[in-house]
Amino acid sequence: MITKEKVCHVPAMTEEDKFKLLEDVIIEYEKKESNLIQILHMAQAIFGYLPPDVQSFIADRMGLSVSKVNSVLTFYTFFTTKPKGKYSVSVCLGTACYVRGGKEVLNKLKEVLGLEVGSTTEDRLFSLSVMRCIGSCGLAPAMTINGKVYKQVTPSKIQRILGMLK
Ligand code: FES
Repeated sequence: MITKEKVCHVPAMTEEDKFKLLEDVIIEYEKKESNLIQILHMAQAIFGYLPPDVQSFIADRMGLSVSKVNSVLTFYTFFTTKPKGKYSVSVCLGTACYVRGGKEVLNKLKEVLGLEVGSTTEDRLFSLSVMRCIGSCGLAPAMTINGKVYKQVTPSKIQRILGMLK
């Protein structure tokens, strides 16, 4: 069984290899429309995002329209059609984080990175997003970088946190 964990840990693949692997995934999921979400998850794990050529490939191999594939992936916020940066920064804007300064943390990140939410720096180093509660409300505001949780973040800590990554 091809799993998301396996494809995430495959060393650098060529574009051709990626499409071959995606084809194997689609076959393994029996080209069933009911498996489209799982296939999109796998495709995102393989390519990092879901650009138009990947959407077309999936639609073609599954016998679906591109608009059908596109409408499913745009419905769910965890799918992205834009490439993500090496560091995916996400700020929690759940209620606890919001009232304790999450918005100010987000504004500082926008200023420092020169990014709007949903975009990626030109050097593909950072991408910025927002999310709902991640269960760290007691130590709000929180943010994550590639899934690692940073708690009690303040705008003044942002430069140091980002600086440690480079
Ligand atoms: S609201 Fe941000 S961790 Fe709960």
